[in-house]
Amino acid sequence: MKKIAMAIAAVSVLGLSGAASADEMLDMATAKGCMGCHTIETKLVGPAYKDVAAKYKGDAGAVDKLAKKVVAGGVGVWGEIPMPPNAAVTPEEAKKLVEWVLTH
Ligand code: HEC
Repeated sequence: MKKIAMAIAAVSVLGLSGAASADEMLDMATAKGCMGCHTIETKLVGPAYKDVAAKYKGDAGAVDKLAKKVVAGGVGVWGEIPMPPNAAVTPEEAKKLVEWVLTH
C-alpha cells in the first residue's frame, strides 16, 4: 500500500511541475488564442513556431525574453505586424508556451 501511495504522489508531483504533453500544450495554445495567428509549420499573421524555434536555437535567454514579449506584445523582429499583448496569459503560462514553441 505504501508503495502505491508513493507512486501516486510521484505522478502528481510530475503533473504539478509542468511536464505537460505536447497535446496539452497545443490545447493551451489554442485556448489562449495563439493559434489564431500562429501555426507550427507556416507563417500566418505571426511567424511559424518552427521558424521561431530555429531562430532562437542555442539562445539561453530566449525563454525569459520571449515569455515577456508574449505577455506584453511587441513588433519588429519578424516584420511590421505587431503581436498585441496577450492579457489572458500569466507569466508562468507564457513561459510554458514559449518552452513548447521552442521544441519545434
Ligand atoms: C493577433 C495575432 C497574434 C496572437 C493572438 C499571438 N501572436 Fe505571437 N506573434 C504575432 C506577430 C505578428 C509576431 C511577430 C512580432 C515581431 O515581429 O516582433 C509574433 C511573434 C511571436 C513570437 C516570437 C517573438 C520574437 O520576438 O521573436 C512568439 C514566441 C509568439 N509570437 C508566441 C505567441 C504565443 C505563445 C501566443 C499566445 C499566447 C501568441 N504568440 C499570440 C502575432 C500574434
